[in-house]
Amino acid sequence: IKKEAEAFVANSEEEIEAFRIQYLGKKGKMNEVFAEFKKVPNEQKREFGKKINEIKTFLQEKIDRFHADLQKQPEEASGDDLTLPGDPVKWGTRHPLSIVRREIIDIFSRLGYVVADGPEIEDDHHVFSALNFPEEHPARDMQDTFFIEKQPDVLLRTHTSSIQVRTMEQNDPPIRVICPGRVFRNEAISARAHCIFHQIEGLYIDKDVSFADLKQTLLYFAREMFGADTEIRLRPSYFPFTEPSAEMDVSCTICGGKGCNVCKYTGWLEIMGCGMVDPNVLESSDIDPEIYSGFAFGMGIERIAMLKYQVKDLRYYFENDVRFLGQFENEV
Ligand code: PHE
Repeated sequence: IKKEAEAFVANSEEEIEAFRIQYLGKKGKMNEVFAEFKKVPNEQKREFGKKINEIKTFLQEKIDRFHADLQKQPEEASGDDLTLPGDPVKWGTRHPLSIVRREIIDIFSRLGYVVADGPEIEDDHHVFSALNFPEEHPARDMQDTFFIEKQPDVLLRTHTSSIQVRTMEQNDPPIRVICPGRVFRNEAISARAHCIFHQIEGLYIDKDVSFADLKQTLLYFAREMFGADTEIRLRPSYFPFTEPSAEMDVSCTICGGKGCNVCKYTGWLEIMGCGMVDPNVLESSDIDPEIYSGFAFGMGIERIAMLKYQVKDLRYYFENDVRFLGQFENEV
């Protein structure tokens, strides 16, 4: 009986039940053995009884094992043990440019600036004319422009100042906007330049806005961004849409202004252009320069991120190598 039962396989509850009936049921094989027991001579009864009990236990254990195996089966069939802990899934990280963009927006939103958006494909009016770039003026060459299909009036924006024009056209002062976005310039790609990059420009227009307001706002920004000891410096510059215009430097984020090879031993790093909005720009958007004044500023996000993270080559930002991208914390 034992040998026979050993070979038995059961793959369902019904088969297990059939096995039980065959061996342990009322008319099953074990009962036949019990009947046999009566005929066994007395002196062998002890020995025989022990054997019977052994087989009965063996059969019962086999049934229990059948039940246990049946419960395990679905997992074994697919080869997975569902009780094992799962494979860890690596979380993605924010792109360094996104981290920095969010941080810049966060800083200015604390000063009451709201985000404004606009199209990447623009017209001459919003990118140049409304910003006081005269027709055929060499200032247009400051930003090498991609034109679409040789149409002089359809182009990729070279700066997000175009969003500021749209904002001025659609809103009355006071205006306080920050304009993040991709911009395009026909430049050779190198470690320090790319034909696509990201800008954030800001615009503030109200009554009695002065250059002192501009300077204090940018000082606040620089210290929030690069640390409380950061110093700023404004150098005279030229942009068609601001007068006076300036370039802003911050004290070197690496050496703290003492001089190192990142700041070429000058102690300063240039991070943005800025200035008081030219009255011609206000006028072309129907804002009266006799009543209102304002300031504007613009910076490249790549450059701010390079200084913050000490990235030496801005091409890394566009290569999507996870070994590079995974090094930045999701701070904001
Ligand atoms: N639009 C300028 C640029 O892209 C930056 C700038 C903005 C300068 C606002 C002054 C004021 O180079």
